[in-house]
Amino acid sequence: MAPQLLKGKKGIIFGALDERSIAWITALKCVEAGASIVLTNAPVAMRMGEIQKLADQTGAIVIPCDVSSQEDVDKLIDQSVEHFGGGFDFVLHSIGMSLNVRKGKAYTELDYGFNAKTLDISATSLHRVLATCLRKDALNEWGSVVALTYIAAQRVFPDYSEMADAKALLESIARSFGYHYAVKKKVRVNTISQSPTRTTAGSGVKGFDGFIDYAEKMSPLGNASAEDCANYCVSLFSDLTRMVTMQNLYHDGGFSTVGVTPAVVEKM
Ligand SMILES: NC(=O)c1ccc[n+]([C@@H]2O[C@H](COP(=O)([O-])OP(=O)(O)OC[C@H]3O[C@@H](n4cnc5c(N)ncnc54)[C@H](O)[C@@H]3O)[C@@H](O)[C@H]2O)c1
Repeated sequence: MAPQLLKGKKGIIFGALDERSIAWITALKCVEAGASIVLTNAPVAMRMGEIQKLADQTGAIVIPCDVSSQEDVDKLIDQSVEHFGGGFDFVLHSIGMSLNVRKGKAYTELDYGFNAKTLDISATSLHRVLATCLRKDALNEWGSVVALTYIAAQRVFPDYSEMADAKALLESIARSFGYHYAVKKKVRVNTISQSPTRTTAGSGVKGFDGFIDYAEKMSPLGNASAEDCANYCVSLFSDLTRMVTMQNLYHDGGFSTVGVTPAVVEKM
C-alpha cells in the first residue's frame, strides 16, 4: 500500500481527459495516498473523454466546469464544499489549450482573439480558481495548489508558440497569488515544470517526437514520466512540504540545468 500521505485530505483535480493525462494519474495516486477527490473538466472534454471510468475507480464525483466561465467555477467550488461537507485541502490545475496552435497559426501571425482565449484558459484560469476559493473561503489552512507548467516559460522552444507566454503568465500568477493566499490563509501555491510527456496536450506540439527524444538525451536522469509527476504532486499536497510556496519547481530529470550532454553531441 502507498504511504498514506494524504489521509483525510480532500481535493479538486482539473484536467483528467484520458488515461495518459497527468491529472488522471495524479487522481489515482492521490486516492491511493488516502485522499477524497472531486474530478472536473470542461463539458466538451467530458463528452470526448472517459472521466466517468476514473470516477468509478476513485470513488469521486464529477462536476463539469469550463474554467474560462466564472459561473462554472463558482458552481464547482460551491458543489465541492457541499460534497465534502466543508473546505478542502488541495487543487491540481492541469489545464492547457492553445487555439492558435490548434488552428495552425504561426507565433509571428497570432490571431489575438484566439490568443486571449488561450491565455484565459491556460493561465488566468488559475487566478479565477484561486480568487473564487479565497472569496468563498473554500481552501483549508495549509492547503496546497499546484499548476503544471513547462520550461518554455524561461527558454525559447519555437514550436511551443503562444503557450510559452501562457506558461510565463501562469507561473507569475502562482507567485503573486501565492503571496496573498499565504498571508491571508496559509495556503501555498506552486507550479511544477514537467518534462515533455506523451499526452493529448503534449502531442499537440509540432515535432513532439523529436522534442521528447532531445529532452531525454539532455536530462541526466532521463525525462520525468507522468507517474513521477503524479508522485511529486502528492508530495506537494502533503504536510511534508508545508513551507514550500510561490515556487516554480523543475521536475525534469535535470534538463533545466544542463548545457549539453555527450548523447546530444553524438547525435550531431
Ligand atoms: N504533456 C507535456 O509534455 C507537458 C509538459 C509540461 C507541462 N504540461 C502541462 O500539463 C498540464 C496537463 O496536460 P497533459 O499533458 O496531461 O494533457 P491533457 O490533454 O491530458 O490535459 C489537458 C487538459 O486541459 C483541459 N482543458 C482544456 N480546456 C479547458 C477548459 N476550458 N476548462 C477546463 N479544462 C480544460 C482538457 O480537457 C484536458 O483534460 C497542462 O497544463 C500542460 O500544459 C504538459
